[in-house]
Amino acid sequence: MTDTRKKTAVLISGRGSNMEALIRASKAPDYPAKIVLVISDNPDAGGLGTARGEGIPARAISRKSYGSKHAHEQAIHDALEEFGVEIVCLAGFMRLLTGEFLEPWDGRIINIHPSLLPKHKGLDTHARAIEAGDSVHGCSVHHVTAGMDEGPVICQAEVPILPDDTADTLAAKVLVEEHRIYPLALEKIARSIQD
Ligand code: GAR
Repeated sequence: MTDTRKKTAVLISGRGSNMEALIRASKAPDYPAKIVLVISDNPDAGGLGTARGEGIPARAISRKSYGSKHAHEQAIHDALEEFGVEIVCLAGFMRLLTGEFLEPWDGRIINIHPSLLPKHKGLDTHARAIEAGDSVHGCSVHHVTAGMDEGPVICQAEVPILPDDTADTLAAKVLVEEHRIYPLALEKIARSIQD
């Protein structure tokens, strides 16, 4: 029987807990995507070892090994092509990708961000949500465009901000929701892509 699951790569920079959530979800027999490759721009990313432990090819493609941003992105693109990747999931990948890189992946590259976009793009989102006096916070999965944390939102989850929340307690609660909605978003994209 032909394997119709969409070949998916996950790009990380660190611990890779969202990557793990995607790997876990992809083990369900009816899940429409298969994680075939993990790439990190950081050779020390803990997620690389986790992926290898799951038997998934995991490559460090470090910016420092390339003379330009263009050459680095080309190396990432080449690895994606080598593995026949159809969908790319950014999961804590802390690097902005250029429009030139993104163009061939239009509609097939998604990201998770720890805020209710368009609120709190960028870093330190949990502390900023508390500082802003927000009563709810959360996370978003969105299509990736050249702007930072921009692009149409695919799905979001909300978490209430309680009076005694700190950035750390809030981050922990949001992370639980990240792990829940990222697999749902990947499932939606994988089912929407024509063979
Ligand atoms: C996650 O909270 C993710 O939403 C965030 O980095 C963390 C990575 O954790 N991404 C961004 O801030 C992107 N703008 P993980 O490596 O355990 O998945």
